[in-house]
Amino acid sequence: MTLTVPATMTAKANGPESGENRILPMPDLSYTPEVAAETAHLYDRVKHVVPPVEWPFHAPYVAAINRLKKERDAVILAHNYQTPEIYNCVADVVGDSLQLAKLAARSTARIIVQGGVHFMAETSKLLNPDKMVLIPDLKAGCSLASSITGADIRRLREAYPGVPVVAYVNTSAEVKAEVDICCTSANAVQVVESLGVDRVLFVPDQYLAKYVASKTKVQIISWHGACEVHERFTGEELRRYREADPSIRIIAHPECPPDVIAEADFTGSTAGMIDYATAQKGGKVLLVTECSMADNVAASARDVEFVRPCNLCPHMKRITLPKILDSLLTLQHRVEIPEELAVRARRSVERMINLQN
Ligand code: 13P
Ligand code: SF4
Repeated sequence: MTLTVPATMTAKANGPESGENRILPMPDLSYTPEVAAETAHLYDRVKHVVPPVEWPFHAPYVAAINRLKKERDAVILAHNYQTPEIYNCVADVVGDSLQLAKLAARSTARIIVQGGVHFMAETSKLLNPDKMVLIPDLKAGCSLASSITGADIRRLREAYPGVPVVAYVNTSAEVKAEVDICCTSANAVQVVESLGVDRVLFVPDQYLAKYVASKTKVQIISWHGACEVHERFTGEELRRYREADPSIRIIAHPECPPDVIAEADFTGSTAGMIDYATAQKGGKVLLVTECSMADNVAASARDVEFVRPCNLCPHMKRITLPKILDSLLTLQHRVEIPEELAVRARRSVERMINLQN
């Protein structure tokens, strides 16, 4: 499936710039004894998943990125699905979509580099209009975000006059500009109930919509989008894992289909899943989500055994250490959102954030 991001939402840097935004030269990327020493404490965090033979390839990038972040006054926000060397070795802030959105709002750095997908970078830009927000790969999309457009929302409003629209944050700024409020997987039920109505339109994830409907009396009218990673899990495969070891704790993301959720001991956002998993000391857990997350959690939950059916998000995996370094050197790709659109989209995101505060 080809995913595109709306051309109006992004703009590359316009030619060479001077001063603090000048393009910087590529640093030496040799694995020297100095680099080995500088990054040794970081290797300690990922040695359970990165073999020693691979570290000399990562370490020069890790050292260069960490130096450049200071020089550029930049922070790296990394979603829980980023690879272990990004998540553990260069990220300043890690979390689920809601945590990243909130922390983006509090950042004091001049530049934000988004370790995640395009809609997350747009959310950071909405909350930091005066900062430079960079996405290291413009093609880092999301099957949910590309399943619906602003025009679709306008058509839904015509079909269901007066019914408020809740959009999962996994949507473009263009869609956020058309809806009443955003939600994440961590607060979807709370957001729906906060509206005080009998019916809501919930877009674009049909499975998150079903999960919310199972937790509230509010009638949910859903769109047909799906996450291409989570929709691949089946209840049948989870039953086989449980048959093999009845003590296993199954932890699922609410983007999974209902037969998967029915088999889970716990369902929650990626941050909720991490909290639940790390509390299972001495136990065995199965994380039903993108598989980098288990690698990342395993770093801090050494006494938990992780079983991981591996479904990777190809969009999250577009973000790599070399692309992050390139982003910091060239200050590409800058996320830009037309002001008129940004004002309306920001309102939907801030309405959600303010609910929690
Ligand atoms: P979280 O908000 O739970 O981190 O989910 C984001 C996402 O894209 C999951 O696929
Ligand atoms: Fe989108 Fe699914 Fe990837 Fe999350 S895991 S970014 S919902 S495609």
